[in-house]
Parts: sequence; C-alpha cells; structure tokens
Amino acid sequence: MRKHWRQNVSVFAASRFAGGRISAIIWGVMTPASAPNDRGLAIFGEFFLDLVFYDLPRVPRLGEEVKTASFARFPGGGLATTAMVASRLGTPTQIITKVGRDILSTPEWRKLVQSGVSIQGCEIDPKLPTAMTVCAAFDGDRMMITCDKINQKLEKLLSRSSAQNQIRSAKHLHLACSMSPPDKWLPLIHKLRRTGLTLSADMGWNPELLESPRLPSLLSSFEFVFPNAAEAKAMTGEQSVEAAARKLARWVRIPVIKLGHAGSLAFREGKILRIKSITVRTVDATGSGDAFNGGFLYGYLAGWPLEECLRSGNVCGALATTRAGGSSAIPTLKRLRELMKKMH
Ligand SMILES: Nc1ncnc2c1ncn2[C@@H]1O[C@H](COP(=O)(O)OP(=O)(O)OP(=O)(O)O)[C@@H](O)[C@H]1O
Ligand SMILES: [Mg+2]
Repeated sequence: MRKHWRQNVSVFAASRFAGGRISAIIWGVMTPASAPNDRGLAIFGEFFLDLVFYDLPRVPRLGEEVKTASFARFPGGGLATTAMVASRLGTPTQIITKVGRDILSTPEWRKLVQSGVSIQGCEIDPKLPTAMTVCAAFDGDRMMITCDKINQKLEKLLSRSSAQNQIRSAKHLHLACSMSPPDKWLPLIHKLRRTGLTLSADMGWNPELLESPRLPSLLSSFEFVFPNAAEAKAMTGEQSVEAAARKLARWVRIPVIKLGHAGSLAFREGKILRIKSITVRTVDATGSGDAFNGGFLYGYLAGWPLEECLRSGNVCGALATTRAGGSSAIPTLKRLRELMKKMH
C-alpha cells in the first residue's frame, strides 16, 4: 500500500475534434501509480457522480417535495469503484472515461485521484455535464434518475489515439460498460486483443447486449467476464449458474460469476471452482460487484492463482456492502490478506 503520493495536476494535451466544433482537454495527474510503462491495469467505462438521498419519510408523488437530513455523494459506476479498489490495494491503475468540467473541483474526483488512480486518459467535454445519478432510497428500495448524454457513443473515445496510447502501457484492460451495440465494439475489441493485452468485462444488466447473437463473438477476446447470477443466466439462457458458467466457457477463457452473499464461482479446464464469501453486516449492496472486480483484478495482476483471485474479490465485494457506496470500505492489502487467510 502507498501511504503518501505526490500530486501534480497538469494539463498535458489539448486537442480539437469534429472539425473544431468540439474541443476536448485531456488532463494528467502524476502519481506513483501513473508512472509510464507500469504495465498495470487500464479501466475503460462510464464515470457517474451519484447523489443519494436516503431515509426518506415517504416516496414523493408528482408535484410534491419530501425532505431528508440523510444525503451522500459518491464517485459512482463500475469504472470508479473497480479502479479505486485495485489502486488502493497497490495495482498501478489508470481510467479512460469522459467527464465534464463540473467534476474537476469536486471532492468525489479528488477522492478518485487521491486513491492513486491515474486520469491521464480521461477526456473533458467542455460542453456537457458529467454523467450524474440522483438516487432516492426508501424502505430498502430505491429509484434513480440519470443524465448521461456524455456517455453516448463512448466507444469513439476508445478508438482515439490518446486512449490507445494509454492502454498500450497497461497489461490488462477492464471494460466497465455495456458495449452496446456490439457491432460497434467488436472491431475495437478484436484490435485491442491483438496488441497482446488481456481483457475483462463487466457489462452489467443490459438485456439488449446480454441476449445478442453477437455476444459470443465479442466475448471470444476476453480472458474474464464478471456477470452476476441473473446476468449469466440471461447471457446463456440457462437455468442454473453452473450450466451458465459451462456455456460461457465456450466463449470466454474464464467466466467468473458473482453470487451475492454466497460468494463466487469460476469455470476453468472443465471444472467449477466455487469460493464462499465472508460473513458481513450488509448496509448497502450497491457497487459490491464492482468492488469484487477490483479485488479479483488486483490478484490477477499480482500473479495470484484463480482461487485466491476469487477470495480477494469476495472479500472486497463483501466489505463494500458494509458501508454506503461501493468504494467506502476498501481494505488495505494487509487486511485483505488477513481476511483471505481466515477463508481457508
Ligand atoms: N451479503 C454479502 N455477504 C458476503 N459477500 C457478499 C455479499 N454481497 C456481495 N458479496 C460479495 O460481493 C460479490 C459481488 O456481489 P454481487 O453478487 O451482489 O454482484 P453484483 O450483482 O454484480 O453487484 P452490483 O450491484 O455491484 O452490480 C459477491 O460475489 C460476493 O463475493
Ligand atoms: Mg454487477
């Protein structure tokens, strides 16, 4: 674990796209984790600012306002959570995403940068706001409103030379986004795979993509895919997670299925590998899957065996449920190792 890091925020490139109509600035932060040629983890996907109103007295009807004293803001989405977990554990981690100028002075962006994540590959859109979700939580359930115009056609960012240069310095690329429509993503993914990187993806719940006939071709470039049980069943049309894992293994090298409090499983060399999670007091399960991905990928890049990667993912996912937001309970590497030892 790094205890201190020096921040040196600097504009290192300014470019113009779309015939000069849209200008974009790419900002860089030099941290120990962002040293060149670190051969670590690159994560591509959507960044959200989550604004969460909870302990509501009741659900408002149209035309009404309800007030609450309970409010929290988080860097949201799979990209930020997975990156913060992997980086805090010690993986050199960079993110590639699009944000608006509005995010740069916020505590959430600062939190991301201070966790050691490099933002050199991020693009600032001068006109659009950062994608934002307002979440109203009531009685164990929640409703959400999202504005994410900035993430439309995000695949274009992946094909830009600035992003490609960033990715080239990494050993592994994780995609924390839906990759829909698959036809647009397929050539990009195949090209990236040919550079020798390993790839993984968490596509979340997106029936259009999960049930697409193009999914097997898309997944054939991936080392790992990280669906939860419902997503794995939707991808394969199977009724059990074991059958889903078996079928996914025809398309992706190692499917990893997240099973909530029951832990996780992977399928490798014809065998199911199932690892239990730890027992925790759950407060909010949002982002546990993304935290799992960060813990798993830390283990993978540290050269750990698959069983240990699953254990690491389980611990990070379980701890994420003990506090609100996926990135509020990230363990130190020492704590992670202690908890993993107890699982044997
Ligand atoms: N209640 C729990 N107790 C112990 N471990 C848990 C619990 N909930 C989640 N985990 C751990 O976190 C991992 C990911 O959780 P889950 O299966 O809910 O993923 P997910 O549905 O993708 O979550 P997300 O809402 O982030 O998309 C699980 O595989 C497990 O290891
Ligand atoms: Mg998930």
